[in-house]
Amino acid sequence: MPETQPHSPSSPTDAQLGTSRFVRACLGRPVDRTPVWFLRQAGRYMPEYMAVRKHYSLLDICRTPEIAAEVTITAAERLGVDAAIIFADLLLPLTPMGLDFEFVNGEGPVVHHPIRTLEQVRALRTDRTGELRYVAQAIEKVAKHFAAPRAPEGPNSDPAGAHGWENQDQLGIIGFVGAPFTLASYMIEGGGSRNYIEAKKLMYSNGGAWPLLMEKLIAVLVDYAAQQVEAGADVLQVFDSWAGALSVADYRAYCLAPTTELIRRIQAMGVPVIYFGVDTASLLPTFRETGADVLGLDWRIPLDVARATLGAGTKGGGIAVQGNLDPITLFAPPAVLEARVKEILALNAGRPGHIFNLGHGIVPGTPVGAVLHVVDLIKQYGKQPAI
Ligand code: CP3
Repeated sequence: MPETQPHSPSSPTDAQLGTSRFVRACLGRPVDRTPVWFLRQAGRYMPEYMAVRKHYSLLDICRTPEIAAEVTITAAERLGVDAAIIFADLLLPLTPMGLDFEFVNGEGPVVHHPIRTLEQVRALRTDRTGELRYVAQAIEKVAKHFAAPRAPEGPNSDPAGAHGWENQDQLGIIGFVGAPFTLASYMIEGGGSRNYIEAKKLMYSNGGAWPLLMEKLIAVLVDYAAQQVEAGADVLQVFDSWAGALSVADYRAYCLAPTTELIRRIQAMGVPVIYFGVDTASLLPTFRETGADVLGLDWRIPLDVARATLGAGTKGGGIAVQGNLDPITLFAPPAVLEARVKEILALNAGRPGHIFNLGHGIVPGTPVGAVLHVVDLIKQYGKQPAI
């Protein structure tokens, strides 16, 4: 094990190392340049995605492997990023668990019969995860597409081996699942929420509903993650988008153990795990205890402060980080955008274990040109010295 990853049981194979700067960075290994990808890189800001959405609903796209794969590949190739996140949605596992939901335009997801009682938790099914295989099938197609060696990037590539490695342009393929708290919050609230009153009521109730819900979610998510890894996902991202709604004490009491178990079990499949949340500055030291290989950072915490808190990149310990540009900076004039991107690279100061990303997803209306500009900036300024 490298000394920067003392907690991680993920053990990379030779095939994983060397060819993908994204996977290398997840494992805290040196890279030829900082890898970059974007949360929600295939989304409504992109005309190519909207053209597909004209003909298919969001769920149709998710459930049709050919289309989900095409949308995933198109976004990654259009942007020239280092990783492709499979086009799917956090809420897909609700269906085989027995909860119906839909996406209502302008409102986000709506779960029709949200769970509020122990009986409802008892009725949730954990034996139908096989129904989610369409996601694994889409991953297989994406993996096949990107398996072919790619042309080196140009002036940034290192074919002659100044770093002693091969070209690292192999795209990383990211699978994902929701974290227990964030998924439970949708199942209980019935949709997005401001105060999470119902979710927290169930969490605080001591009739056994919350631990049983966590147990069932872990069973389903581990199966679902295993399908994705088997299909070719190189890295799994665990989205705990709304964990920032929790106090440190509540996160520790109700979420740390189930989240840690989920992450450990995914790592045991042989892939690194990125654990992501928003508004989590005060939770970061606790997040570290999950043993995730990489933590996603939002833009509210300067990257160097987060790294100092986490001990990332320092001798004898650490964890990789991903982030953390404010997605709304993509609406700023180019000079402001450039300054913010360079600032993040400067705050990382060339340490291994940094993946450039936004602090949360690209929002609709974002100019595609600004996203491309960020990719160019990273390719220009993110080069790492040969060591
Ligand atoms: O490239 C990509 O990242 C796209 C793949 C992707 C989607 N959802 C497709 C999608 C991913 C990684 C997700 C994860 C997801 N889904 C999360 C975690 C990520 C985060 O943003 O924190 C969450 C919380 C969800 C649940 C969800 N799905 C919500 C709240 C919404 C509504 C958002 C809105 O702005 O309306 C969705 C819909 C959704 N999922 C869209 C996309 C591209 C947009 C709606 C559409 O295309 O019709």
